[in-house]
Amino acid sequence: MSTQNSPSMLWRDATVFDGLQTLPQPMVVRVDGARITGLWPEAGFAPAQAEGCVEAGRGGLITPGLVDCHTHLVFGGSRADEFEQRLEGVSYAEIARAGGGILSTVRATRAASPDQLFDAALPRLQALVDDGATTVEIKSGYGLALADELKMLRIARRLGRPQEGGLPVRIVTTLLGAHALPPEFAGDADGYIDEVCARMIPAAAAEGLADAVDVFCEGIAFSPAQCERVFEAAQRHGLAIKAHAEQLSSLGGAALAARHGALSADHIEYLDEAGVQAMAAAGTVGVLLPGAFLTLRETQLPPVELLRRHGVPMALATDANPGSSPMFMPTLMLNLGCTLFRLTPREALAGMTAHGARALGLADSGRIAAGQRADLCVWQAGHSAELAYAVQPGRLRQRVFGGRITHD
Ligand code: NIG
Ligand code: FE
Repeated sequence: MSTQNSPSMLWRDATVFDGLQTLPQPMVVRVDGARITGLWPEAGFAPAQAEGCVEAGRGGLITPGLVDCHTHLVFGGSRADEFEQRLEGVSYAEIARAGGGILSTVRATRAASPDQLFDAALPRLQALVDDGATTVEIKSGYGLALADELKMLRIARRLGRPQEGGLPVRIVTTLLGAHALPPEFAGDADGYIDEVCARMIPAAAAEGLADAVDVFCEGIAFSPAQCERVFEAAQRHGLAIKAHAEQLSSLGGAALAARHGALSADHIEYLDEAGVQAMAAAGTVGVLLPGAFLTLRETQLPPVELLRRHGVPMALATDANPGSSPMFMPTLMLNLGCTLFRLTPREALAGMTAHGARALGLADSGRIAAGQRADLCVWQAGHSAELAYAVQPGRLRQRVFGGRITHD
């Protein structure tokens, strides 16, 4: 059914990547209102399929709108100074232990007003949107105190509301209270985890501010036992679970998250086969973050071949954040996923569409199929591998969000 605001639209003679694969022949895509209603081979096109439609485009490559399923877009300050230190040989973990890293962003984020944080995050989000993102997950985790974590989540929600100065993009929010130990709880990580479980999670759930809860399971952050308490609290409040796991070492965080039915385990460079099996059994998505791997000049590759062999869906995301991945370009991640992690271009694109949506628990997004949300990108490209092959801004010809063309 067409709606008054979104006309029925038709794209003709396009190469279609449907979220999992490139379809073998040129296709017609129909959108009515906010939904995709038809996908047919151009060869059998019948005029009845176009009834009531305006022709919105011809040719090019149509993909689902890109899903950036892991970002930390809302933050204060900059960590350019730490970038310089790391280039001089100081490690990410050493900077963190010395009170920099995440905690330096916490200081800047706490000091900033909501409007300042919103204004700083908006151009970052705009960069993702201009590169094809129609869904973006945003984590808290630079507040680390109840009021500051909720402040971050409110800003994240507002970023997806055009009527409040935000952008036409679907925002999914994740409470990452267990990101680092705030100075108020120095020496008392268990006490801080109590605070996350007893106050932050219930408050975020009660206000509807968080769609999921995430943890940083790592030597420089929280132990598996502490993360498990966070997962149990999330489950009590009906929130989905995600984990930063096996980024710098192997603590079994991904397997633990999987056993709690996590949507995703992210980073996972140090994941072992038992962890891969646990994720496969639970249907947990592996989110690969090549921007952080590149920025931290890591050498331990995620176990892509094991993930393939056990059928674990692989998503790709920017991890856009001020420390480990100051990168705000989804299509760059397609390239890095292939060049650094040896994904195929098809796997990379599925990682930012169908599997990215799955990592967020979104069943109506990330695919081109009748009934899915009409979030689409039309690219100036003849072959679906081109998006990963060339690092080239400006190829987005049209972006469709909820059935409305936002870029043309
Ligand atoms: O995904 N691993 C932990 N958290 C972020 C980095 C955050 C930061 O350095 O500010 C990540 O890499
Ligand atoms: Fe992250």
